[in-house]
Amino acid sequence: MAPAASTAGAAVTALSVMALLSYLLLTKSRSRSPSYSSVKKNGSGVIAAIGNTPLIRINSLSQATGCEILGKAEFLNPGGSVKDRVAVKIIEEALESGALSPGGVVTEGSAGSTAISLATVTPAYGCKCHVVIPDDAAIEKSQILEALGATVERVRPVSITHKEHYVNIARRRALEADELASEHQKTSQDRDSLAYCKGGFFADQFENLANYRAHYEGTGPEIWEEVGGKLDAFVAAAGTGGTVAGVSRFLKEKDSSIKCFLIDPPGSGLFNKVTRGVMYTREEAEGRRLKNPFDTITEGIGINRLTENFKMAALDGAFRGSDIEAVEMSRYLLKNDGLFIGSSSAMNCVGAVKVAQAMGPGHTIVTILCDSGMRHLSKFHNAQYLAQYGLTPSATGLEFLGLDAVMNADKKVMNGIHSAEEKLEENKCIM
Ligand SMILES: Cc1ncc(COP(=O)(O)O)c(C=O)c1O
Repeated sequence: MAPAASTAGAAVTALSVMALLSYLLLTKSRSRSPSYSSVKKNGSGVIAAIGNTPLIRINSLSQATGCEILGKAEFLNPGGSVKDRVAVKIIEEALESGALSPGGVVTEGSAGSTAISLATVTPAYGCKCHVVIPDDAAIEKSQILEALGATVERVRPVSITHKEHYVNIARRRALEADELASEHQKTSQDRDSLAYCKGGFFADQFENLANYRAHYEGTGPEIWEEVGGKLDAFVAAAGTGGTVAGVSRFLKEKDSSIKCFLIDPPGSGLFNKVTRGVMYTREEAEGRRLKNPFDTITEGIGINRLTENFKMAALDGAFRGSDIEAVEMSRYLLKNDGLFIGSSSAMNCVGAVKVAQAMGPGHTIVTILCDSGMRHLSKFHNAQYLAQYGLTPSATGLEFLGLDAVMNADKKVMNGIHSAEEKLEENKCIM
């Protein structure tokens, strides 16, 4: 007899599949939805409002470091994050290639932002959205998804090598939708009934290079234009790697002297990959250790495998960032700049200060403000949750980054990367 847990798990899975299938079968096609060509041609509506986000000067960090620290305000996109661009690019490329049919269902395994962006934009293309997420993701993320009209499957977090990993389940759901569509094609006498079963498409944000292209063709050029070609460094954390890869590659092609860096949270193997060329420490080997909430409280960033998107990155070095640095940074920016940002954005700002410390005053540094603090009320912006992990913020300034000690005490040695590197030995930044 199957153990109770696996029986319950199988029942939940079966229910989810049934929910998806009935959703596909019973939801009438949005026959009056705009066609892909009309969305693209008109350049209007919600899709046209994505991108061209402002590049905000972060006054407090700029003043404290003597650098121009600028944040690309991606939280101002209609779907609330940097992933809107990715969702649009993935859907448009899939519709253009025919991999996705108008009216089809886009499936994704995502801890939140990409799924929210897909759920936001799919109706504009006359498509539907089905999302599989780990059940340790902040609850407000699945609430938003359901409110947006997507179907949501919450599953136990397991290794990517496991067939029940949320990404693998999402891939399977797209195949199931395809099978359903071809079954209908074979059996249905009424060709019109096919209108509401158009098959599936797995968005595959980790491996689909449309993700990288969204940033290479969009975010990168926008940053370049906004800084008027005057830029010294770019830094960002990586989840899929799409942002850091697309932006770094574009900027390097414009000016090879621009330094591009990764900031990596605890539990991620990318720092090792960038600085030592080796992805894993032994205990970090995929399948033996999971990236889970005990590794980091940041969401959407850090990974223990090399994705196709990350492989496109053109990086000069990497820094490590800690959870407490990200928490302190978010509170510091709230107090000093009125910026209410999520955990990955806070980590990116930690990265920007570390780059400023390494390069010295007088440089222009850009990072990404991925999403708003609103998305993180139950965890990153919840005092009780943070206390549980010993992460209660207490800083009055930027002392958690040793800024006073490094930037003010000895400014004269801050004009060269190598002297900074010695001072910031714990960062192990390779340039
Ligand atoms: C909130 C948030 N910030 C940052 C990232 C990382 O961006 P990328 O996937 O382009 O590396 C993600 C990825 O899912 C995210 O959800």
